[in-house]
Amino acid sequence: MSILKSFIVFEGLDGAGTTTQIRNLARYYEFNNREYFITNEPTSNPIGELVRKVLRKQVVTTPEALALLYAADRNDHLYNPSYGIVRLIEEGKIVMSDRYFYSSIAYQSVECDSSLVKMINDFPSPEFLIFIDTPVEDCMKRIEKRGEEKELFDRAEFLTAVRNNYMKELSSLPNGVNLLVVDGRKSIEETEAEIRRYLSSFSL
Ligand code: TYD
Repeated sequence: MSILKSFIVFEGLDGAGTTTQIRNLARYYEFNNREYFITNEPTSNPIGELVRKVLRKQVVTTPEALALLYAADRNDHLYNPSYGIVRLIEEGKIVMSDRYFYSSIAYQSVECDSSLVKMINDFPSPEFLIFIDTPVEDCMKRIEKRGEEKELFDRAEFLTAVRNNYMKELSSLPNGVNLLVVDGRKSIEETEAEIRRYLSSFSL
């Protein structure tokens, strides 16, 4: 099992607050003159754009094809010869990603066979996994408040199943993956401080 050093992944349900927290952490590294790279999945590269079309319901496909698209986007995200993040990590940068293969295990396994999802997501693990645990009801309220058109997965029953899958996955992480679960009901500032404290205990 390979572990990507200084790779920090943020995970959580839609509306959990991962995007806010990852941006705040990036600002902190910027302030401290650390070399970092912030990214997200689905990416804004061509395969990720296709995934987003499916999420916006502009393209209709099967759950299995979508699972394969997420995995293809991830493979490209990691290994693309010009912008792959593995190289950035090898160069010594701190890389932070808003979502990674844990999202596929949690979301795609609701509608696809979980062994298929695991098989196509045989990617290296991050050194740090930060799970922002926000109850489904709070996530739904935040999604409603955004006032945007609902995406494919923005439904309470679906998110409940996703949360169960996350919990199962988080309880059996391989050695070497450092997991921090934070309570997403706390204030943005409190959560931010907790994440910083945790990472700085590893000198990050
Ligand atoms: P994201 O961009 O984080 O959501 P938002 O548009 O709210 O910022 O992710 C888009 C959606 O894709 C979200 O519902 C989670 C889902 N997703 C998966 O189902 N599988 C995956 O592998 C990934 C990376 C995301």
